[in-house]
Amino acid sequence: MEITLESTPLIETAADAVVVGLFEGEPPDGDAAEINRALGNQISEIAGLGGDGELTGKKGEIALFYTQGRIPARRVAVVGLGKRAELNANVLREASGAAARFLRDRKVKTVATALHRVFSAKKQTKDEGGPFAAAIVEGAILGMWEPGSYQAETERKGSLDRLTLVEPDEKRTEMVSGGMERGRTLGESANLARTLVNEPGNALPPEAVADRAKQIASEAGLSIEILDEDVMFRLGMGAILAVSVGSENRARLVILKHMPNPGEPALALVGKGITFDTGGISIKPTEGMGAMKGDMAGAAAVLGAMRAIALLKLPVNVVGLASCAENMPDGKAYRPGDVVTCMNGKTAEIITTDAEGRLVLADALTYAVRNLRAEHVVDAATLTGACVIALGHTTTGAVSNNAELMTAVNQAAEAAGEYVWELPHHEEYKKQIKSDIADLKNSGGRPGGAITAGLFLREFVDETPWVHLDIAGTSTTDGTPALAKGPTGVMVRTFVKLAESLQQS
Ligand code: BES
Ligand code: MN
Ligand code: ZN
Repeated sequence: MEITLESTPLIETAADAVVVGLFEGEPPDGDAAEINRALGNQISEIAGLGGDGELTGKKGEIALFYTQGRIPARRVAVVGLGKRAELNANVLREASGAAARFLRDRKVKTVATALHRVFSAKKQTKDEGGPFAAAIVEGAILGMWEPGSYQAETERKGSLDRLTLVEPDEKRTEMVSGGMERGRTLGESANLARTLVNEPGNALPPEAVADRAKQIASEAGLSIEILDEDVMFRLGMGAILAVSVGSENRARLVILKHMPNPGEPALALVGKGITFDTGGISIKPTEGMGAMKGDMAGAAAVLGAMRAIALLKLPVNVVGLASCAENMPDGKAYRPGDVVTCMNGKTAEIITTDAEGRLVLADALTYAVRNLRAEHVVDAATLTGACVIALGHTTTGAVSNNAELMTAVNQAAEAAGEYVWELPHHEEYKKQIKSDIADLKNSGGRPGGAITAGLFLREFVDETPWVHLDIAGTSTTDGTPALAKGPTGVMVRTFVKLAESLQQS
């Protein structure tokens, strides 16, 4: 999809469709009012105060009008934006994604929309043209992503060819075009993560994730190191090796580095990259097992975020670690009852081989805090079904050892429109992962499963400020008006916002 900026007013812009916003409980204003007049009051006839409730401006509403030559654009889509006072980038991202998908499904190829009147209308002191332009572009790019990459070309859902933003005020073009570029980078980086999550296990074993990471590194200007199993063995990474040993595919620890301030400490982003999780010897039931191709969504979020951080040239050191292995049952596979020694020397009794994510993360976390000397660590992992039961599919569960970093993550998530909720983790929970024969058990059982999984990880970050994000529920969606069914790319945007916020402090 081509993204362009133009200065011709929306009412004069030629496109298959123009999109205008409508605030809840108000008559059309700005571009919408102008276009409404040109269309002989077609919009106000059904919209706002004059209408009969067909179009009220509520979030999620979309109505389509045909212009029959009265303006250059063939169609006008009126999109509900909710209450004027509550307008923000998250509302615009959703509205833009939903409108792009709605129009795409009606074979529209070129779309134009405008921003300027939204701000003057909001009568705010701060001009949010940059973030708002970013949100519109981001929403459309996210909305156009589809999972059908293995379908015949003719069967696949297409995409808009072009999205044009109109900004007639020359003084604002730089701000708006900067926002558009940023929105494109964020949207495409989240889509990259979604594409990786969507790849089946046979197409994307750990080595293939490493190859994709190399590609990302060279395109975005990141340095990259890939640790293979020989190196892991020498480093004493007994946990990730135990998970991997039952697979024919070898494990990889991928490390991407964005170090604009060499020698200074970094934020480490660590992702669970189980390219397929059968459960191992503690094998999962067949039903739904296919979804476990997405058990590398944490790693994918790290790769997507690192790409964006590099392309945006954020002046902050960030290292991204994708801890990749496949969890398979086999004659050599690790078993319940085994004891494994992790890189930091702690031993873990294997209660179930299906609690593999915390094992591959344990060694990656140790490597981040000890070998890369990270000063902040945030991990993302599709770690527990318990988190899905606790918080559902809209909210990511968090466990942390540091209130300040937790607050920073919460604020970044809110700005990105992603929900995060911190789980309790009193010391009482810890006895669930105490073992009779080793330092730790790799499972604390079903009660509070998302919490005890987080507490297991805490044992591997020493005293470094750390936040764990359980994205088991949020890494996929059943589909929304703004987003296709499938992977969401969750945490890519939060990670980027977090890196930006740490650069300010
Ligand atoms: N990858 C799964 C968790 C998961 C479940 C992700 C559903 C996405 C959707 C993880 O490796 C796992 O199997 N966790 C176990 C842990 C338990 C055995 C302690 C679980 O949640 O059942
Ligand atoms: Mn598992
Ligand atoms: Zn798993």
